[in-house]
Amino acid sequence: MTMQVVRLASETDFSGWREAARVLRARRVAPEAALWTVDGAGDLFDDAALEPGAEAFTVPRAFLQLAGEVIRHRSDERFALLYRLLWRLGREPGLLSRYADPDVRKAHVFAQGVAQAEQQMRAFTDFKPFAGADGHEVQVAWFEPAHRVTEAAARFFAQRFARRRFSLLTPDVCAHWDGGELSFAPGADPADAPREAGLEDFWRNLPAGPSIPQPIARPKSPRREPAPSPMARQSHTNSSDRLVRAAQRSSRDASFDGLAVMTLEEVHVGLQMCRRCGLYGGATQGVSGEGAGRARLMLEGEQPGDQEDLAGRPFVGPAGQMLDKALAEAGVPRDQAFVTNAVKHFKHELRGRKRIHQTPTTGEVAACRWWLDTERRIVRPQVIVAMGATAALAVFGRPLAIGRARQEALPLPDHAKGVVTYHPAYLLRQPDPDARTMAYVRFVGDLRFAWGLVA
Ligand code: URA
Repeated sequence: MTMQVVRLASETDFSGWREAARVLRARRVAPEAALWTVDGAGDLFDDAALEPGAEAFTVPRAFLQLAGEVIRHRSDERFALLYRLLWRLGREPGLLSRYADPDVRKAHVFAQGVAQAEQQMRAFTDFKPFAGADGHEVQVAWFEPAHRVTEAAARFFAQRFARRRFSLLTPDVCAHWDGGELSFAPGADPADAPREAGLEDFWRNLPAGPSIPQPIARPKSPRREPAPSPMARQSHTNSSDRLVRAAQRSSRDASFDGLAVMTLEEVHVGLQMCRRCGLYGGATQGVSGEGAGRARLMLEGEQPGDQEDLAGRPFVGPAGQMLDKALAEAGVPRDQAFVTNAVKHFKHELRGRKRIHQTPTTGEVAACRWWLDTERRIVRPQVIVAMGATAALAVFGRPLAIGRARQEALPLPDHAKGVVTYHPAYLLRQPDPDARTMAYVRFVGDLRFAWGLVA
């Protein structure tokens, strides 16, 4: 057997891998005869005879998407694993949905690890302001991602930072955003990386890093420490088949409909890979519901806000504080309820540095309804409180006038009862103190009413 050596340009050279795999497969080179290496040169083969042009074949889009994720995993096995899958797909068309198959399973575990790593990088990268050579502020951060997700995370941060500049430094690659364009430079040596202080010197001494004379003194504001998300809490614990299957079902191509996600953990994992609508693109992470696993009362809001998006938990920001206060006054223990949202990703637009909430469209609510229904099926609440118009739309499937529908136990098809009330943020928005107090009193009354319906 003659070995075919493939030399990819970089560890994440997906287009190189695709081109090489296409040629190898067209020339019927078996997986055992292909040796995948990275040498930075970027000419794929020694053997000029391996030019494209033989047998034509197509691959499912789902495979290419899976491969795009897997290639960013740190395992040395990934190139060969993907080529083996590609090779086998020619003979076993339904292969990708056979989760018991070791190759398929491994690819999904890799993809899930990559998705988690990207989510963690989005949530936990801690940028600090420095003054650039031109006196303008640059945000600088050092991060060591579990997998090679820096380019994707940098694109996410570029969207979020808009015109503000940043440098994201990692051992793999350094990303620089000048407010209009992203550029990448070689990674920095982790041995030199600052652990606590020293980021400024480190950044200044990077070969490709711009020079920065002065850190910017900022008045100290309490830093929002992101609470460990359920994802972070569970990241090393559960790689069961069910989780892997759930993650796969949640991949970009899957519609989910008709498939059973059975646990709240699977809901959480699935949400991180959900592409049922476009909102995932601007959000840090999908925020699943939390609370008692078999709660009799479900409280549903609209969508995570800025703080919830960062923390990965529902109702932890100002609206959450208002909700907590009202729940306490109504005598409803939050930990005996299940708190969730109609839409699981934060929809917003950037205005300067601020992420301004935007109301989700009917289509986005409908797309996310699958997750809400799944949470309902798992938690099986007796009473669901829809807080605000978006939540009411999601629960009842049609718009309701909140003011008129309050204080009623509305029947739902799964034998639960629905109650509608104001959204806590609506109370916060009332400019007139009397109107605010009135709305608050009604809100507390509605929560008490709902709790009274619980058997
Ligand atoms: N508003 C909501 O509707 N949900 C949250 O989780 C936070 C704010």
